[in-house]
Amino acid sequence: LMSLQVAAVCGYLLGSIPFGLVLTRMAGLGDIRKIGSGNIGATNVLRTGNKFLALLTLIGDSGKGAAAALLFTALYGPEQGIFAGAAAVIGHMFPLWLRFKGGKGVATTLGTLLAVNWIMGVIACLAWLIMALIFRISSLSALVALAVAPLAAFYVAHDIGAGWLGLFLAVIVWGAHHTNIRRLLNGTEPKIGDKKKAAA
Ligand code: G3P
Repeated sequence: LMSLQVAAVCGYLLGSIPFGLVLTRMAGLGDIRKIGSGNIGATNVLRTGNKFLALLTLIGDSGKGAAAALLFTALYGPEQGIFAGAAAVIGHMFPLWLRFKGGKGVATTLGTLLAVNWIMGVIACLAWLIMALIFRISSLSALVALAVAPLAAFYVAHDIGAGWLGLFLAVIVWGAHHTNIRRLLNGTEPKIGDKKKAAA
């Protein structure tokens, strides 16, 4: 049973590395939390105008979720992989280093989902891409991708563990998007790459 606790703690610590914050600070762009939506994720890094840094943020934030899940699956087994991946998303959203005020968990969730069950992950990423191509709104794409993920796990991949992980992550990531949801309903949510200020 100890392995679940180790997976949770290590996953949390890995997930709490705020790539968007670190990379933008290293590039001399100031505090990303004072730009655009104030979020530390790739979508908001893109609002600085630096596409390369946004891509690196996406790779870092999704990679840490995938790394946590893959590492603990390899070390102990699939259950520990799921715990580590879920903990990485929680670490990203509630990092100790940022007084528990982190990101919205989309990239880390997608990385985790890909690592836990690639069918679920690919379907969720495709849902994100299709929505982004049609509407060009990052939050809307994320909300749909997260809603699709558990359905893909239960009904396409037939993986119950992955399905519960997807459902759990969908609930917390949807919760983190409450201000985005309000803006979507108001019709004031900015499009991808739009530098127009979006209130956090
Ligand atoms: O990945 C987070 C995205 O869904 C929304 O980000 O900065 O527009 O609130 P943001």
